[in-house]
Amino acid sequence: MENKQIVITQFGEPEVLAIQSAEVPTPQPGEVLVKVAFAGVNPIDVKTRAGLGWAASQNKDKLPWVPGYDISGQVVACGEGCERFNAGQNVAGFIGFPLQGGGYSQYVCVPESELSLVPDSITLEAAAALPLAGQTAVQALDKGGVKEGQRVLILAGAGGVGHIAVQVAVAAKAEVFTTCSDVNLDYMATLGAHAINYKFSPVSERVTDADVLIDLVGGDAALDALKCLKDGATVVTIPTLSAELICEKAKLLGFEATGMLVDPNPQQLDTLIYMVSVGLLKTEIFKVYPMDKAVEAHHQIETGHTRGKVLLDMQC
Ligand SMILES: NC(=O)c1ccc[n+]([C@@H]2O[C@H](COP(=O)([O-])OP(=O)(O)OC[C@H]3O[C@@H](n4cnc5c(N)ncnc54)[C@H](OP(=O)(O)O)[C@@H]3O)[C@@H](O)[C@H]2O)c1
Repeated sequence: MENKQIVITQFGEPEVLAIQSAEVPTPQPGEVLVKVAFAGVNPIDVKTRAGLGWAASQNKDKLPWVPGYDISGQVVACGEGCERFNAGQNVAGFIGFPLQGGGYSQYVCVPESELSLVPDSITLEAAAALPLAGQTAVQALDKGGVKEGQRVLILAGAGGVGHIAVQVAVAAKAEVFTTCSDVNLDYMATLGAHAINYKFSPVSERVTDADVLIDLVGGDAALDALKCLKDGATVVTIPTLSAELICEKAKLLGFEATGMLVDPNPQQLDTLIYMVSVGLLKTEIFKVYPMDKAVEAHHQIETGHTRGKVLLDMQC
């Protein structure tokens, strides 16, 4: 049996991605072997491939390296002592984060404790869209202490993290404001948010008295959004590059402010899967690329204008 994997051969443009053939791994005690159906593509994969950030510096001597943290697929074998899953069950997980990666593989061994069951009522595509982005969304809203009735401003509501954050905040009965470009205004409105076209005017001219800011853009957009907040508001800034600057400025203005690094949590993924299965949450899949088009998938994420998620089909 062949195990094709997409590897970063050296740091650089998307064209440095290549397909390599590896052995199908054998599950160790407590691990299951997953035949991956879909792998999610996240901005961190793209940054690491470009040689930027912590995962790149930690893995620079380990190239070729297999990126990828989001998988969905089927359990095909169980290591000794496995009790949660049987061969034939569908699972999803947020795996190998942040240093190991490995999701862009046709077969991968994962400790069963890191996986969630995917019931028949949700597709494997939807399940692969949820792990990293969905947990970032939930953890950001938790850190922001978002509650019923609060005014919550989410920058970049149409992206992988944003489209889930908007829906979870709406489900929590917050009043949600979000920024997007003109093409996503209707989409954001259908999710229940007040949509603001950031290309038309700065968000600070359109929103006042927000209790919580969830910043998924960083830089100048985040600095402008601080003007939308009421006294004592909370800021959660997600892009790591500008987090220090935004937090410093926010604290000077008297806000509570924090950056964050998402922390894999299978119970949270169970909840997100449940929400999709009962129709409380809808994943938006921008495009599924066959695994031999991973270069195009990375180019798409680099546009910065993906609606929802990009996936790789690892079955072809
Ligand atoms: N710290 C962590 O643990 C962590 C975890 C996950 C993600 N992140 C970071 O969080 C950020 C968001 O991640 P993601 O996966 O959601 O990215 P993404 O899916 O690539 O985001 C794309 C979205 O951003 C929107 N956008 C671009 N520029 C915008 C602007 N100036 N104002 C408002 N919206 C804008 C686009 O909407 P339009 O097309 O309408 O412009 C598009 O829908 C990335 O920087 C990522 O690296 C950090």
